[in-house]
Amino acid sequence: MKKQSIVAASLISIVLAASPVQAAEPLEFQKVMKELGKNMQIITDGISREDWDMVAKTAPMIAEHPQPPLAEKTRIISFMGAEMSRFKSFDMQTHEAAHDLLHAAHEKDGQKVIEAFQKVQSSCLGCHQTFRSKFTEHFYGKPGN
Ligand code: HEC
Repeated sequence: MKKQSIVAASLISIVLAASPVQAAEPLEFQKVMKELGKNMQIITDGISREDWDMVAKTAPMIAEHPQPPLAEKTRIISFMGAEMSRFKSFDMQTHEAAHDLLHAAHEKDGQKVIEAFQKVQSSCLGCHQTFRSKFTEHFYGKPGN
């Protein structure tokens, strides 16, 4: 009886280990994105409070966001192929708009901050609409939203 349950337990672990339905590990890239999302929320809050220091402190975290490790970058570059330059140009748009946001926050010009913020959002949206779905399909086997 005891022996049987040991056999059963090891069979179960073999089946689990070989299970093909394991979800693909999220990329570091996804963590970078989650951080971008959080920082955008902090900026929204900063705008509501007219806390331009908070906006100015957070904008560079968007403009100079971290990059995924080299090995992962290589995977992304090889997946993107000829579209890599387009992908990169969306990232540049985010970078530049976040810079404008920083300057507007330094000037404490609320309207300018909002305009720059909108440009940042448009750059995020542009890349998401163009690439997100094929990206998640390729790396995780499921299309994103
Ligand atoms: C160069 C293209 C590109 C730009 C620019 C970009 N994103 Fe993304 N983003 C992606 C891709 C691709 C995914 C899907 C990544 C994944 O699931 O691994 C994604 C996913 C996300 C997610 C979902 C992460 C999750 O929890 O699954 C958030 C949030 C996000 N991005 C926020 C932003 C914000 C905010 C900006 C602008 C400040 C931005 N992104 C700019 C390509 C981009």
